[in-house]
Amino acid sequence: MHIGVSLLLSQTSCLFGLSILTPGAIAGSISKPGTGHTEKLATYQLEAETLVTAERLDSAVASSFPLFDTLSILPGFNAGTQGASNDVILRRIVTTTTIPETGETVAVTGLLAIPASANSTIPVVSWQHGTILSFDQVPSNMVKLSDSNYTLTSLETLFNVQRFAANGFAVIAADYIGKGPLRDGRGEAYVVKGATTQTCGALNTLWLHQALRSDGIDIAATAVASPFSDLDQAWRYWSGKVSFPLPEGLESYPPLAAWIAPCMIVALGSYQLYYDLPGLMETAVRPQYRELAERYWQDYNISAIDPSNAPNSTNLLVDSFWKDYTNDQISALQRQLMTNAAINWEYDSPIRFYYGLADEAIHPAMVTRTIAAGGRYTKGIQVARASHRATFLAGLYGTGASLDGYENVLSWFQSEAYL
Ligand SMILES: *[C@@H]1O[C@H](CO)[C@@H](O)[C@H](O)[C@H]1NC(C)=O
Ligand SMILES: *[C@@H]1O[C@H](CO)[C@@H](O)[C@H](O)[C@H]1NC(C)=O
Ligand SMILES: *[C@@H]1O[C@H](CO)[C@@H](O)[C@H](O)[C@H]1NC(C)=O
Ligand SMILES: *[C@@H]1O[C@H](CO)[C@@H](O)[C@H](O)[C@H]1NC(C)=O
Repeated sequence: MHIGVSLLLSQTSCLFGLSILTPGAIAGSISKPGTGHTEKLATYQLEAETLVTAERLDSAVASSFPLFDTLSILPGFNAGTQGASNDVILRRIVTTTTIPETGETVAVTGLLAIPASANSTIPVVSWQHGTILSFDQVPSNMVKLSDSNYTLTSLETLFNVQRFAANGFAVIAADYIGKGPLRDGRGEAYVVKGATTQTCGALNTLWLHQALRSDGIDIAATAVASPFSDLDQAWRYWSGKVSFPLPEGLESYPPLAAWIAPCMIVALGSYQLYYDLPGLMETAVRPQYRELAERYWQDYNISAIDPSNAPNSTNLLVDSFWKDYTNDQISALQRQLMTNAAINWEYDSPIRFYYGLADEAIHPAMVTRTIAAGGRYTKGIQVARASHRATFLAGLYGTGASLDGYENVLSWFQSEAYL
Protein backbone atom coordinates (compact mmCIF):
# COMPACT_ATOMS: atom_id res chain seq x y z
CA MET A 1 0.00 0.00 0.00
CA HIS A 2 2.77 2.50 0.77
CA ILE A 3 3.68 2.62 -2.88
CA GLY A 4 0.27 4.22 -3.48
CA VAL A 5 1.63 7.51 -2.31
CA SER A 6 4.68 7.74 -4.45
CA LEU A 7 2.98 10.59 -6.25
CA LEU A 8 3.93 12.83 -3.34
CA LEU A 9 7.07 11.26 -2.22
CA SER A 10 10.37 12.38 -3.35
CA GLN A 11 13.42 12.92 -1.25
CA THR A 12 12.16 11.82 2.11
CA SER A 13 9.57 9.36 3.30
CA CYS A 14 8.83 8.55 6.89
CA LEU A 15 7.18 5.67 8.64
CA PHE A 16 5.27 6.05 11.81
CA GLY A 17 3.32 3.32 13.49
CA LEU A 18 1.56 2.10 16.57
CA SER A 19 2.49 -1.12 18.21
CA ILE A 20 0.07 -3.89 17.60
CA LEU A 21 -1.62 -3.40 20.90
CA THR A 22 -4.47 -1.12 21.59
CA PRO A 23 -3.69 2.57 21.62
CA GLY A 24 -0.22 3.01 22.70
CA ALA A 25 2.87 2.63 20.80
CA ILE A 26 4.36 4.71 18.13
CA ALA A 27 6.90 3.93 15.62
CA GLY A 28 8.22 5.91 12.82
CA SER A 29 11.04 6.23 10.45
CA ILE A 30 12.30 8.44 7.75
CA SER A 31 13.53 6.81 4.64
CA LYS A 32 15.25 8.09 1.58
CA PRO A 33 14.50 5.94 -1.40
CA GLY A 34 17.92 5.08 -2.73
CA THR A 35 18.84 6.39 -6.12
CA GLY A 36 18.47 3.68 -8.67
CA HIS A 37 15.81 1.95 -6.59
CA THR A 38 13.01 0.92 -8.89
CA GLU A 39 9.59 1.85 -7.56
CA LYS A 40 7.05 -0.91 -7.81
CA LEU A 41 4.06 0.24 -9.80
CA ALA A 42 0.95 0.54 -7.73
CA THR A 43 -2.59 0.56 -8.95
CA TYR A 44 -4.75 2.62 -6.71
CA GLN A 45 -7.57 5.10 -6.72
CA LEU A 46 -7.80 8.26 -4.70
CA GLU A 47 -11.35 9.15 -3.75
CA ALA A 48 -12.74 12.69 -3.56
CA GLU A 49 -11.03 15.02 -1.16
CA THR A 50 -12.23 16.33 2.17
CA LEU A 51 -10.80 19.54 3.57
CA VAL A 52 -10.45 19.73 7.35
CA THR A 53 -9.51 23.04 8.88
CA ALA A 54 -6.67 23.49 11.32
CA GLU A 55 -9.22 24.72 13.88
CA ARG A 56 -11.31 21.57 13.59
CA LEU A 57 -8.24 19.37 13.99
CA ASP A 58 -7.11 21.32 17.04
CA SER A 59 -10.52 21.20 18.63
CA ALA A 60 -10.82 17.44 18.05
CA VAL A 61 -7.35 16.92 19.54
CA ALA A 62 -8.20 19.13 22.53
CA SER A 63 -11.21 16.98 23.38
CA SER A 64 -9.45 13.64 22.78
CA PHE A 65 -6.17 14.48 24.48
CA PRO A 66 -7.30 13.71 28.07
CA LEU A 67 -8.50 10.23 27.00
CA PHE A 68 -4.90 9.31 26.23
CA ASP A 69 -3.12 11.37 28.86
CA THR A 70 -3.77 8.92 31.66
CA LEU A 71 -2.43 10.11 35.02
CA SER A 72 -1.98 13.53 33.36
CA ILE A 73 1.68 13.11 32.64
CA LEU A 74 1.61 15.97 30.12
CA PRO A 75 0.69 19.62 30.71
CA GLY A 76 -2.31 19.29 28.36
CA PHE A 77 -2.86 20.25 24.74
CA ASN A 78 -1.93 23.82 23.89
CA ALA A 79 -3.27 24.95 20.51
CA GLY A 80 -0.96 27.96 20.68
CA THR A 81 2.23 25.92 20.68
CA GLN A 82 1.04 22.54 19.43
CA GLY A 83 -1.67 23.59 17.01
CA ALA A 84 -2.04 22.67 13.36
CA SER A 85 -0.27 25.14 11.11
CA ASN A 86 -2.20 24.05 8.00
CA ASP A 87 -5.62 22.89 6.95
CA VAL A 88 -5.42 19.30 5.75
CA ILE A 89 -6.79 17.53 2.70
CA LEU A 90 -7.92 13.94 3.28
CA ARG A 91 -8.50 11.30 0.64
CA ARG A 92 -9.33 7.61 0.89
CA ILE A 93 -6.96 5.34 -1.04
CA VAL A 94 -8.42 2.17 -2.57
CA THR A 95 -6.11 -0.50 -3.87
CA THR A 96 -5.59 -4.26 -3.84
CA THR A 97 -3.08 -6.39 -2.04
CA THR A 98 -2.13 -10.06 -2.21
CA ILE A 99 -1.99 -11.80 1.14
CA PRO A 100 1.31 -13.71 1.34
CA GLU A 101 -0.06 -16.36 3.71
CA THR A 102 -3.04 -17.33 1.55
CA GLY A 103 -2.35 -16.00 -1.94
CA GLU A 104 -5.72 -14.20 -2.03
CA THR A 105 -5.96 -10.77 -3.65
CA VAL A 106 -8.25 -8.44 -1.76
CA ALA A 107 -9.36 -4.83 -2.02
CA VAL A 108 -8.09 -2.65 0.80
CA THR A 109 -8.36 0.96 1.85
CA GLY A 110 -6.21 3.55 3.52
CA LEU A 111 -5.89 7.25 4.16
CA LEU A 112 -3.82 9.92 2.49
CA ALA A 113 -3.61 13.26 4.30
CA ILE A 114 -1.65 16.23 3.00
CA PRO A 115 -1.22 19.82 4.14
CA ALA A 116 -3.61 22.00 2.11
CA SER A 117 -0.75 24.39 1.36
CA ALA A 118 1.48 21.72 -0.13
CA ASN A 119 2.60 22.84 -3.55
CA SER A 120 5.70 20.81 -4.21
CA THR A 121 7.17 17.51 -3.08
CA ILE A 122 6.91 16.92 0.63
CA PRO A 123 8.12 14.18 2.97
CA VAL A 124 5.74 11.35 3.80
CA VAL A 125 4.97 9.77 7.13
CA SER A 126 3.62 6.25 6.83
CA TRP A 127 1.66 5.80 10.03
CA GLN A 128 0.80 2.32 11.28
CA HIS A 129 -2.08 2.28 13.72
CA GLY A 130 -1.99 -0.43 16.33
CA THR A 131 -4.72 -2.73 17.40
CA ILE A 132 -8.21 -1.41 17.10
CA LEU A 133 -10.78 -3.68 18.66
CA SER A 134 -13.35 -2.60 16.10
CA PHE A 135 -13.87 -3.12 12.40
CA ASP A 136 -14.36 0.49 11.51
CA GLN A 137 -12.24 2.81 13.66
CA VAL A 138 -9.86 2.94 10.74
CA PRO A 139 -7.72 5.80 9.42
CA SER A 140 -9.65 6.23 6.17
CA ASN A 141 -12.82 7.00 8.11
CA MET A 142 -11.30 10.41 8.77
CA VAL A 143 -12.74 11.38 5.38
CA LYS A 144 -16.14 11.27 7.08
CA LEU A 145 -15.20 14.61 8.60
CA SER A 146 -16.80 16.03 5.45
CA ASP A 147 -19.97 15.64 7.54
CA SER A 148 -19.74 18.47 10.02
CA ASN A 149 -21.58 16.33 12.60
CA TYR A 150 -19.27 13.32 12.34
CA THR A 151 -17.52 12.36 15.56
CA LEU A 152 -14.15 10.77 14.94
CA THR A 153 -13.48 7.27 16.20
CA SER A 154 -9.95 6.74 14.93
CA LEU A 155 -8.34 8.99 17.51
CA GLU A 156 -4.81 7.70 17.06
CA THR A 157 -5.05 8.71 13.41
CA LEU A 158 -6.43 12.11 14.37
CA PHE A 159 -3.37 12.79 16.54
CA ASN A 160 -1.03 11.79 13.73
CA VAL A 161 -2.83 13.84 11.10
CA GLN A 162 -2.96 16.88 13.39
CA ARG A 163 0.74 16.54 14.17
CA PHE A 164 2.25 15.52 10.86
CA ALA A 165 -0.14 16.41 8.04
CA ALA A 166 -0.91 19.80 9.55
CA ASN A 167 2.80 20.49 9.98
CA GLY A 168 4.38 19.77 6.66
CA PHE A 169 4.22 16.02 6.03
CA ALA A 170 1.99 13.85 3.92
CA VAL A 171 0.54 11.05 6.05
CA ILE A 172 -0.47 7.65 4.75
CA ALA A 173 -2.16 5.04 6.89
CA ALA A 174 -3.48 1.63 5.89
CA ASP A 175 -6.81 0.39 7.24
CA TYR A 176 -5.40 -3.20 7.18
CA ILE A 177 -6.95 -6.42 5.94
CA GLY A 178 -10.28 -7.31 7.55
CA LYS A 179 -11.08 -3.72 8.52
CA GLY A 180 -12.58 -0.68 6.90
CA PRO A 181 -15.31 -0.11 4.33
CA LEU A 182 -14.28 -2.96 2.01
CA ARG A 183 -14.03 -5.55 4.75
CA ASP A 184 -16.95 -7.60 3.43
CA GLY A 185 -17.01 -9.95 6.43
CA ARG A 186 -13.34 -10.91 6.14
CA GLY A 187 -11.54 -11.72 9.39
CA GLU A 188 -8.72 -9.55 10.55
CA ALA A 189 -5.09 -10.59 10.07
CA TYR A 190 -3.97 -9.38 13.48
CA VAL A 191 -0.22 -9.86 14.04
CA VAL A 192 -0.07 -12.10 10.96
CA LYS A 193 3.36 -11.09 9.74
CA GLY A 194 3.13 -11.29 5.94
CA ALA A 195 -0.37 -9.83 5.64
CA THR A 196 0.28 -6.89 7.93
CA THR A 197 3.69 -6.07 6.52
CA GLN A 198 2.22 -6.16 3.04
CA THR A 199 -0.36 -3.52 3.95
CA CYS A 200 2.19 -1.46 5.86
CA GLY A 201 0.67 -2.70 9.03
CA ALA A 202 3.45 -4.62 10.63
CA LEU A 203 4.14 -5.70 14.15
CA ASN A 204 4.50 -2.10 14.97
CA THR A 205 6.92 -0.53 12.59
CA LEU A 206 9.72 -2.96 13.24
CA TRP A 207 8.49 -5.56 10.73
CA LEU A 208 7.91 -2.84 8.17
CA HIS A 209 11.31 -1.30 8.76
CA GLN A 210 12.93 -4.69 8.30
CA ALA A 211 10.92 -5.41 5.14
CA LEU A 212 11.87 -2.06 3.59
CA ARG A 213 15.54 -2.59 4.38
CA SER A 214 15.35 -6.07 2.90
CA ASP A 215 13.98 -4.41 -0.24
CA GLY A 216 17.00 -2.09 -0.29
CA ILE A 217 15.16 1.07 0.72
CA ASP A 218 17.32 3.44 2.76
CA ILE A 219 15.93 4.57 6.08
CA ALA A 220 17.44 7.64 7.67
CA ALA A 221 15.74 7.42 11.06
CA THR A 222 13.04 5.44 12.88
CA ALA A 223 11.06 6.00 16.07
CA VAL A 224 8.87 3.50 17.88
CA ALA A 225 7.10 3.60 21.21
CA SER A 226 6.00 0.83 23.54
CA PRO A 227 6.75 -1.76 20.92
CA PHE A 228 6.94 -5.39 21.75
CA SER A 229 8.95 -7.31 19.29
CA ASP A 230 8.66 -10.88 20.51
CA LEU A 231 5.14 -12.31 20.36
CA ASP A 232 6.09 -15.49 22.18
CA GLN A 233 7.54 -13.51 25.06
CA ALA A 234 4.51 -11.21 25.10
CA TRP A 235 2.05 -14.11 25.25
CA ARG A 236 4.01 -15.71 28.12
CA TYR A 237 4.05 -12.41 30.01
CA TRP A 238 0.35 -11.83 29.49
CA SER A 239 -0.42 -15.42 30.48
CA GLY A 240 1.51 -14.98 33.72
CA LYS A 241 4.17 -17.49 32.68
CA VAL A 242 7.09 -15.08 32.83
CA SER A 243 7.54 -12.02 34.99
CA PHE A 244 10.14 -9.27 35.07
CA PRO A 245 11.77 -7.46 37.98
CA LEU A 246 10.50 -3.99 38.85
CA PRO A 247 12.12 -1.37 36.64
CA GLU A 248 14.90 0.38 38.51
CA GLY A 249 13.67 3.07 40.88
CA LEU A 250 10.02 1.95 40.86
CA GLU A 251 8.16 0.53 43.83
CA SER A 252 5.21 -0.89 41.95
CA TYR A 253 4.13 -1.76 38.45
CA PRO A 254 0.55 -1.68 37.07
CA PRO A 255 -1.40 -4.93 36.55
CA LEU A 256 -2.03 -6.26 33.07
CA ALA A 257 -4.78 -4.45 31.16
CA ALA A 258 -8.23 -5.99 30.77
CA TRP A 259 -8.09 -5.41 27.00
CA ILE A 260 -5.24 -7.87 26.51
CA ALA A 261 -7.57 -10.91 26.59
CA PRO A 262 -9.69 -9.57 23.67
CA CYS A 263 -6.44 -8.91 21.77
CA MET A 264 -5.38 -12.52 22.34
CA ILE A 265 -8.78 -13.75 21.11
CA VAL A 266 -8.40 -11.71 17.93
CA ALA A 267 -4.87 -13.06 17.45
CA LEU A 268 -6.14 -16.63 17.85
CA GLY A 269 -8.86 -16.01 15.27
CA SER A 270 -6.37 -14.40 12.90
CA TYR A 271 -3.80 -17.18 13.19
CA GLN A 272 -6.50 -19.82 12.79
CA LEU A 273 -7.67 -18.13 9.59
CA TYR A 274 -4.44 -17.01 7.93
CA TYR A 275 -2.11 -19.83 9.00
CA ASP A 276 -4.79 -22.43 8.37
CA LEU A 277 -5.03 -23.83 11.90
CA PRO A 278 -8.63 -25.09 12.08
CA GLY A 279 -9.97 -25.57 15.60
CA LEU A 280 -7.24 -23.42 17.17
CA MET A 281 -9.62 -21.04 18.94
CA GLU A 282 -11.81 -23.84 20.19
CA THR A 283 -8.99 -25.88 21.67
CA ALA A 284 -6.73 -23.08 22.94
CA VAL A 285 -9.41 -21.28 24.95
CA ARG A 286 -10.72 -22.66 28.26
CA PRO A 287 -14.12 -24.31 27.86
CA GLN A 288 -15.99 -21.66 29.88
CA TYR A 289 -14.77 -18.88 27.54
CA ARG A 290 -15.03 -20.66 24.20
CA GLU A 291 -18.44 -19.43 23.14
CA LEU A 292 -17.56 -15.90 24.21
CA ALA A 293 -14.28 -16.02 22.30
CA GLU A 294 -15.87 -17.33 19.09
CA ARG A 295 -18.57 -14.65 19.27
CA TYR A 296 -16.12 -11.87 20.04
CA TRP A 297 -13.99 -12.84 17.04
CA GLN A 298 -17.13 -12.46 14.89
CA ASP A 299 -18.55 -9.23 16.31
CA TYR A 300 -15.83 -7.41 18.33
CA ASN A 301 -18.61 -6.36 20.68
CA ILE A 302 -17.08 -5.79 24.08
CA SER A 303 -20.45 -4.78 25.55
CA ALA A 304 -21.79 -8.22 24.77
CA ILE A 305 -19.29 -9.76 27.21
CA ASP A 306 -20.79 -10.43 30.63
CA PRO A 307 -18.25 -8.88 33.06
CA SER A 308 -18.93 -11.65 35.58
CA ASN A 309 -17.72 -14.21 33.00
CA ALA A 310 -14.99 -12.23 31.26
CA PRO A 311 -11.63 -13.93 30.71
CA ASN A 312 -8.42 -12.09 31.45
CA SER A 313 -5.05 -12.68 29.90
CA THR A 314 -3.98 -15.12 32.61
CA ASN A 315 -7.02 -17.39 32.54
CA LEU A 316 -8.05 -17.33 28.88
CA LEU A 317 -5.96 -20.28 27.68
CA VAL A 318 -6.28 -23.95 28.57
CA ASP A 319 -3.96 -25.23 31.30
CA SER A 320 -1.94 -27.42 28.99
CA PHE A 321 -1.22 -24.52 26.61
CA TRP A 322 2.29 -23.74 27.86
CA LYS A 323 3.01 -27.05 29.55
CA ASP A 324 2.45 -29.99 27.23
CA TYR A 325 1.71 -30.95 23.68
CA THR A 326 -2.01 -30.27 23.35
CA ASN A 327 -2.60 -30.55 19.61
CA ASP A 328 -0.90 -29.68 16.34
CA GLN A 329 -2.69 -26.36 15.98
CA ILE A 330 -1.55 -25.05 19.37
CA SER A 331 2.01 -26.21 18.77
CA ALA A 332 1.97 -24.57 15.32
CA LEU A 333 0.68 -21.33 16.84
CA GLN A 334 3.55 -21.29 19.31
CA ARG A 335 6.15 -21.92 16.61
CA GLN A 336 4.60 -19.14 14.54
CA LEU A 337 4.68 -16.71 17.46
CA MET A 338 8.39 -17.45 17.82
CA THR A 339 9.02 -17.17 14.07
CA ASN A 340 7.24 -13.82 13.92
CA ALA A 341 9.50 -12.13 16.45
CA ALA A 342 11.05 -8.88 15.25
CA ILE A 343 13.87 -8.91 17.76
CA ASN A 344 16.75 -10.30 15.76
CA TRP A 345 17.75 -7.27 13.71
CA GLU A 346 20.74 -4.98 13.53
CA TYR A 347 19.52 -1.48 12.73
CA ASP A 348 21.82 0.44 10.43
CA SER A 349 20.37 3.91 11.00
CA PRO A 350 19.07 5.74 14.09
CA ILE A 351 16.00 4.23 15.75
CA ARG A 352 14.38 5.60 18.89
CA PHE A 353 12.26 3.49 21.22
CA TYR A 354 9.91 5.52 23.41
CA TYR A 355 8.65 3.31 26.24
CA GLY A 356 6.44 3.87 29.27
CA LEU A 357 7.41 3.04 32.82
CA ALA A 358 3.78 2.22 33.66
CA ASP A 359 2.72 0.47 30.46
CA GLU A 360 0.01 -2.02 31.42
CA ALA A 361 0.77 -4.34 28.48
CA ILE A 362 4.42 -3.90 27.55
CA HIS A 363 6.89 -4.20 30.39
CA PRO A 364 10.01 -2.04 29.86
CA ALA A 365 12.13 -5.21 29.95
CA MET A 366 10.39 -6.31 26.73
CA VAL A 367 11.58 -3.13 25.02
CA THR A 368 15.07 -2.73 26.43
CA ARG A 369 15.95 -6.22 25.23
CA THR A 370 15.32 -5.13 21.63
CA ILE A 371 17.25 -1.91 22.14
CA ALA A 372 20.22 -3.75 23.60
CA ALA A 373 20.27 -6.29 20.77
CA GLY A 374 19.62 -3.80 17.97
CA GLY A 375 23.09 -2.34 17.60
CA ARG A 376 24.74 1.03 17.96
CA TYR A 377 21.99 3.08 16.31
CA THR A 378 19.30 2.24 18.89
CA LYS A 379 18.30 4.64 21.64
CA GLY A 380 15.77 4.06 24.43
CA ILE A 381 13.70 6.99 25.71
CA GLN A 382 11.88 6.36 29.00
CA VAL A 383 8.55 8.05 29.63
CA ALA A 384 8.03 8.26 33.38
CA ARG A 385 4.60 7.24 34.79
CA ALA A 386 3.33 6.61 31.27
CA SER A 387 0.65 4.05 30.48
CA HIS A 388 0.43 2.42 27.07
CA ARG A 389 -1.72 5.25 25.71
CA ALA A 390 0.18 8.03 27.48
CA THR A 391 3.47 6.79 26.01
CA PHE A 392 1.97 7.12 22.55
CA LEU A 393 0.66 10.60 23.27
CA ALA A 394 3.89 11.78 24.89
CA GLY A 395 5.86 10.55 21.90
CA LEU A 396 3.80 12.89 19.73
CA TYR A 397 3.21 15.88 22.02
CA GLY A 398 5.75 15.56 24.85
CA THR A 399 8.81 17.70 25.50
CA GLY A 400 12.14 17.06 27.16
CA ALA A 401 10.38 17.27 30.54
CA SER A 402 8.31 14.15 29.84
CA LEU A 403 10.68 12.49 27.38
CA ASP A 404 13.80 12.12 29.46
CA GLY A 405 15.38 15.14 27.78
CA TYR A 406 14.57 14.12 24.21
CA GLU A 407 12.27 15.78 21.70
CA ASN A 408 9.02 14.31 20.40
CA VAL A 409 8.74 12.43 17.13
CA LEU A 410 7.36 15.43 15.18
CA SER A 411 10.33 17.60 16.12
CA TRP A 412 12.72 14.79 15.40
CA PHE A 413 11.20 14.02 12.00
CA GLN A 414 11.16 17.71 11.13
CA SER A 415 14.85 17.98 11.85
CA GLU A 416 15.57 14.77 9.92
CA ALA A 417 13.49 15.99 6.97
CA TYR A 418 14.97 19.51 7.14
CA LEU A 419 11.52 21.06 7.57
C1 LIG B 1 4.39 26.99 -1.63
O1 LIG B 1 4.19 26.77 -0.25
C2 LIG B 1 5.10 27.45 0.57
C3 LIG B 1 4.88 26.99 2.00
O2 LIG B 1 3.51 26.96 2.29
C4 LIG B 1 4.90 28.94 0.40
O3 LIG B 1 5.83 29.65 1.19
C5 LIG B 1 5.10 29.28 -1.05
O4 LIG B 1 4.80 30.63 -1.26
C6 LIG B 1 4.20 28.44 -1.93
N1 LIG B 1 4.49 28.69 -3.32
C7 LIG B 1 3.57 28.90 -4.22
C8 LIG B 1 4.04 29.10 -5.62
O5 LIG B 1 2.37 28.93 -3.93
C1 LIG C 1 -26.05 18.09 12.19
O1 LIG C 1 -26.81 17.97 13.37
C2 LIG C 1 -27.76 19.02 13.54
C3 LIG C 1 -28.40 18.86 14.90
O2 LIG C 1 -28.74 17.53 15.15
C4 LIG C 1 -28.78 18.94 12.38
O3 LIG C 1 -29.70 19.99 12.51
C5 LIG C 1 -28.03 19.09 11.07
O4 LIG C 1 -28.91 18.90 9.99
C6 LIG C 1 -26.93 18.03 10.98
N1 LIG C 1 -26.11 18.30 9.80
C7 LIG C 1 -25.83 17.36 8.90
C8 LIG C 1 -24.95 17.77 7.78
O5 LIG C 1 -26.24 16.19 8.99
C1 LIG D 1 -23.32 -5.29 21.50
O1 LIG D 1 -23.86 -5.99 22.58
C2 LIG D 1 -24.84 -5.25 23.31
C3 LIG D 1 -25.17 -6.07 24.53
O2 LIG D 1 -25.56 -7.37 24.18
C4 LIG D 1 -26.00 -4.95 22.41
O3 LIG D 1 -26.96 -4.21 23.12
C5 LIG D 1 -25.52 -4.17 21.21
O4 LIG D 1 -26.57 -3.97 20.30
C6 LIG D 1 -24.39 -4.91 20.51
N1 LIG D 1 -23.83 -4.04 19.50
C7 LIG D 1 -23.72 -4.41 18.24
C8 LIG D 1 -23.10 -3.42 17.33
O5 LIG D 1 -24.11 -5.49 17.85
C1 LIG E 1 -7.57 -13.22 36.17
O1 LIG E 1 -8.65 -13.71 36.89
C2 LIG E 1 -8.29 -14.62 37.91
C3 LIG E 1 -9.58 -15.11 38.53
O2 LIG E 1 -10.26 -15.89 37.63
C4 LIG E 1 -7.40 -13.92 38.92
O3 LIG E 1 -6.98 -14.86 39.90
C5 LIG E 1 -6.20 -13.35 38.23
O4 LIG E 1 -5.43 -12.59 39.13
C6 LIG E 1 -6.64 -12.45 37.09
N1 LIG E 1 -5.45 -12.02 36.35
C7 LIG E 1 -5.30 -10.79 35.93
C8 LIG E 1 -4.06 -10.49 35.17
O5 LIG E 1 -6.12 -9.92 36.14
